Amino acid sequence: MLVAGIVAGWGMPVTADIQRGRLLYENHCQACHTSVVHVREQRKAKSSAELRAFILRWSGELKLKWSDEELADVYRHLNNLHYKFPVETPAK
Ligand code: HEC
Repeated sequence: MLVAGIVAGWGMPVTADIQRGRLLYENHCQACHTSVVHVREQRKAKSSAELRAFILRWSGELKLKWSDEELADVYRHLNNLHYKFPVETPAK
């Protein structure tokens, strides 16, 4: 369940963050674009900065009001799963 999953993720050790990022992403974002968007050859995000910008843009468009921490969790989730940029969390 969305709410339970997110609440349970709060205050947990750092290792839980990717899990929270996954939940946030699956609940808010994945309905529209499947994981295919992120692995296609012509993918738009070509650097950690661009990936971060996409996450900001989409969460803004959906008016999700994610905190910096939540944005970073989703970033970690997507980077871990698809992009594998060397910088795990870009500097703010
Ligand atoms: C209304 C449908 C829709 C929703 C909801 C949506 N996206 Fe997207 N997203 C797209 C489309 C379409 C593209 C491809 C855009 C393009 O090619 O310019 C895209 C592209 C992206 C990319 C770039 C992928 C690449 O090419 O590397 C990222 C990252 C991304 N979205 C993240 C998110 C996140 C995070 C959320 C949730 C906060 C989200 N999106 C919600 C439709 C959506």
